Amino acid sequence: MGARPGLRESASFDRHAIWEIQRAASEGIYDIRGWGAKRRVPHFDDLLFLGASMSRYPLEGYRERCGTDVVLGTRFASKPLELKIPVTIAGMSFGALSAPAKEALGRAATEVGTSTTTGDGGMTQEERQSSKTLIYQLLPSRYGMNPDDLRAADAIEVVVGQGAKPGGGGMLLGHKISDRVAAMRDLPQGIDQRSASRHPDWTGPDDLEIKLLELREITDWEKPIFVKVGATRVYYDVQLAVKSGADVIVVDGMQGGTAATQDVFIEHVGIPTLPAVRLAVDALQELGMHRKVQLIVSGGIRSGADVAKALALGADAVSIGTAALIALGDNSPELDDEYRKLGSAAGFYDDWQAGLDPAGITTQDEELAARLDPVVGGRRVANYLRVLTLETQTLARACGKSHVHNLEPEDLVALTIEAAAMARVPLAGTTWIPGTVSA
Ligand SMILES: Cc1cc2nc3c(=O)[nH]c(=O)nc-3n(C[C@H](O)[C@H](O)[C@H](O)COP(=O)(O)O)c2cc1C
Repeated sequence: MGARPGLRESASFDRHAIWEIQRAASEGIYDIRGWGAKRRVPHFDDLLFLGASMSRYPLEGYRERCGTDVVLGTRFASKPLELKIPVTIAGMSFGALSAPAKEALGRAATEVGTSTTTGDGGMTQEERQSSKTLIYQLLPSRYGMNPDDLRAADAIEVVVGQGAKPGGGGMLLGHKISDRVAAMRDLPQGIDQRSASRHPDWTGPDDLEIKLLELREITDWEKPIFVKVGATRVYYDVQLAVKSGADVIVVDGMQGGTAATQDVFIEHVGIPTLPAVRLAVDALQELGMHRKVQLIVSGGIRSGADVAKALALGADAVSIGTAALIALGDNSPELDDEYRKLGSAAGFYDDWQAGLDPAGITTQDEELAARLDPVVGGRRVANYLRVLTLETQTLARACGKSHVHNLEPEDLVALTIEAAAMARVPLAGTTWIPGTVSA
């Protein structure tokens, strides 16, 4: 017999909440998964551009130039990164991702003139060789950390935190720890690895300043130094990162992806990317450092609209993780049958911690990884990056801008009161910016 019509679902104990209580009761351990926050939070979708009309003059779509280049690391480094597009590939570890996936990301970034980034667990030869511009992450775990690799990189990113888990450390479950991953991390094969949540050799901005100076000495003051923070107390964190001597600051909002973190962490810690951009820009402007210390924003970037809105709010570039994996072939409908065998479905698969990825991306299983052709995958990600750039230019030209960095908050309005307050742009059709006092 089917369920009786009119059954009422509880708003607080909805199907997911009930399922999660049942799962916890049977397994006795929290849920660990990949991807980023899945619940809706105020986002760039809640903003709209005011295209040019009578009071503003648009640029011609196909004939008039709209620049997209960006230089990262102009403050202290003698060799700043010169990128052709304002979209970079975020740090994703070898271990979380397969070697062909890392290579494909490097190929894509190189093809379109942008950078890619290592991750927890060190640098692979495949990614160094395939990436013209490679940023080397220095993480609290120091897994795979190697001064030769540091010098072989084009920039260094000191990771203080990630948007998916600010205040938390990394996780790489035993079934993804192959011989190669274990050897690179100096840890035993097949055993769960929890990486540290804070750096072993500094506790605050004064120590970090000394650490950054050491890194500059090791790299002859050539390489830009990025500091990456998960978005929480953004205003203060950005100011302290500037004080510590960062050339570039990466702010990763709470929607930011992860390879493996507790669901409770992903969904309940940190602030969304939208307010994070505004707070970061405020912090830089107050110090007179906006555009001198470059700002990269990440967490939930999917389209050229997201890129353009982040730039309009004052970011110099954005970075992508999850979207790059999807472009690479993650969650492809062609693999739906295989995802279903794993108890998921195309479009929902987030068990990136499990190492069983049929797309060959979030796995260390050699047979699965061999399914991903880095050349084909790289081409797909490059196509996607081109589309992001074209979309960003389309919006910028419609707002009359000859460079995507000329987009500004004045080009935006908000659809919701929350977004208006967080982005500090007026609610559409009004002059009202909640939280500001009119003169
Ligand atoms: C599979 C995967 C692995 C990641 N590994 C790292 C890492 O090793 N270090 C790090 O700083 N961030 C890591 N991240 C976070 C990304 O660098 C980035 O902050 C985040 O993915 C941006 O949000 P988005 O996924 O919504 O684009 C990882 C993300 C994913 C999806």
